[in-house]
Amino acid sequence: MTILPIRLFPDPILRKKSKEIDNIDLEILEFSNNMLETMQYAKGIGLAAPQVGRLVRLITIQVPECEPLIMFNPYVNKKLGKRMIPEGCLSVPGFTGIVERSISISATYIDKNKGKIQLSATELLSQAIEHEIDHLNGIMYLDHLESHEKLHKTGITPDDIHWHDVAYKVSINKDNATKMDLETEGIIERKIELSKIKSDGSIEEASFDV
Ligand code: CO
Repeated sequence: MTILPIRLFPDPILRKKSKEIDNIDLEILEFSNNMLETMQYAKGIGLAAPQVGRLVRLITIQVPECEPLIMFNPYVNKKLGKRMIPEGCLSVPGFTGIVERSISISATYIDKNKGKIQLSATELLSQAIEHEIDHLNGIMYLDHLESHEKLHKTGITPDDIHWHDVAYKVSINKDNATKMDLETEGIIERKIELSKIKSDGSIEEASFDV
């Protein structure tokens, strides 16, 4: 097993779209186990392959008191309801933001035995699956923030990480762009001025990074 380096925002790989996995072979199984170990080592409850530098549709999740999940080619079939909840990300250490997520989802994925699995999820599991699948599409939770004011320093990261203002833009080749791609571009053309973010002790710290 190997602990893999986690890519940090604004690493451009976090903005790329991941490819479907055609063949679940020994190499990708070993990689998925390394992802699981990396996620546990980093004390996260979810990790997506692009966060460790590989653009394939693979996520790992482990919410407290549940077995770890390795999900190949996951997608959400159904979303129900909306709620505002705090969220963090292993690629954005030291910050938490309030985002809108579904109340419950159902998802489909391929497991390590190549079985097609249907899963219904609520609460933290539902949130983690939506967050990780976003990573596979180059979307970060920062894109779901309504405003900078909704992002807060958690104060759990040592001062050695120095944040600059970050302007970012994702360009999509519009020749083959689907309607969803164009909507995505609309979402992620955004400037985040991290230096304007103030600590806010009134916000409950997110206990989990995903
Ligand atoms: Co994340």
